[in-house]
Amino acid sequence: MQITDTSREIFRSSLERCQQDSKFIGLFYHKFVISNPLVREKFKHTNMDNQKMMLHASMNLIMLATQQNETASIYLDQIAKRHSKLDLDIPKELYQLWLTTLLETVKETDPDYNEEVKQAWQAIMQFGIDYMQTRYAN
Ligand code: HEM
Repeated sequence: MQITDTSREIFRSSLERCQQDSKFIGLFYHKFVISNPLVREKFKHTNMDNQKMMLHASMNLIMLATQQNETASIYLDQIAKRHSKLDLDIPKELYQLWLTTLLETVKETDPDYNEEVKQAWQAIMQFGIDYMQTRYAN
């Protein structure tokens, strides 16, 4: 799906509704960590309170990066490097699981969730995932 100003607006307002629910990110990580033993292993030593804040911030930034915002693109590049082979070494398969889990959590959290909202999240987060995967090996 192509990312348009309309899909950005649909994403932004859904993210805002989700972030009004203090359980949103906690619910996502709970689901994600129990979804696969390797995910659990990767987060073994993580301070989850910090992690939740970082993820909140990075969702907005990915949206800005889809508009070629320079600061957001630099930040996305740093997140990508952190997840690459030489650092956290996050394999490709886990990104699809990450996205499926996120969409499931949005569905449960956003009272106005519908097909359009789903597609907007999917397209914008996939932009971030695609970028992160191009940085896996370098
Ligand atoms: C587009 C998808 C993703 C985004 C936007 C994202 C975002 C982030 C951010 C912002 C951080 C903090 C970086 C820092 O401390 O400098 C982080 C750390 C981390 N992420 Fe991701 N992440 C994504 C996918 C994944 C996936 C698929 C996994 C698989 C297990 C994962 C595992 C981790 C781990 C283990 C850390 C480090 C936690 C620590 O410092 O202990 N991430 N992520």
